[in-house]
Amino acid sequence: MQLSSQRLNLNEITIDDLLFLHEINSCPEVDEFNTLGIPENRTQTKTHLNKLIDAQSVNPRGSYNWILTEKISNEKIGVVGLNVSNNRFKLGEIYYNIHPKHWGNGFATEVGLCIIKFGFEVLKLHKIEAGVQTQNTKSIKVLEKLGMTREGLRRKILPIRGEWKDNYHYAIVEDDPL
Ligand SMILES: CC(C)(COP(=O)(O)OP(=O)(O)OC[C@H]1O[C@@H](n2cnc3c(N)ncnc32)[C@H](O)[C@@H]1OP(=O)(O)O)[C@@H](O)C(=O)NCCC(=O)NCCS
Repeated sequence: MQLSSQRLNLNEITIDDLLFLHEINSCPEVDEFNTLGIPENRTQTKTHLNKLIDAQSVNPRGSYNWILTEKISNEKIGVVGLNVSNNRFKLGEIYYNIHPKHWGNGFATEVGLCIIKFGFEVLKLHKIEAGVQTQNTKSIKVLEKLGMTREGLRRKILPIRGEWKDNYHYAIVEDDPL
């Protein structure tokens, strides 16, 4: 499932993305608010990547994971995804990680909008959610620019570097304005 936005191509992740995935997941800035943690070695990243690739052959699909490439430079700049619930609830959950070299250019907002449209228009989802650590001000800004509503605070549910952190729950419903 290939998507594109004004400045970005979204290609489903492949084994050729191993080095980029390892590099971005190893960045302390990217890890700051993430529960995945910095990989110990490339083998650990490969195990994680293989799970994402295996998910591409599950029918119906439960998750999509894309590598973002900037159209103008053909450079890989991030990893984003959409996890989908069973068909009765029609729920999706997005995540996004942009390489720190490319922060502040509006890429997370642009790709977030692209995935939300895909979720509502193609997958016919009813609601799309996102969780964010309460101190992750950049990501909170992105979610609010995407038209998501803060629906609640979930206390101490994120395991981040040995501590339990609070999480804001954000969501957008299919008939909310985009
Ligand atoms: C969060 C993240 C995806 C944002 O990516 P990005 O491409 O830089 O995002 P955008 O450029 O679309 O928007 C960032 C917004 O945050 C704002 N911002 C930047 N630093 C900020 C700060 N310290 N406090 C508040 N807002 C801040 C920017 O001004 C911008 O808003 P604006 O366009 O209204 O000015 C990126 O920082 C990242 O990958 N972080 C690490 C992984 C992560 O936290 N992922 C999200 C998990 S929920």
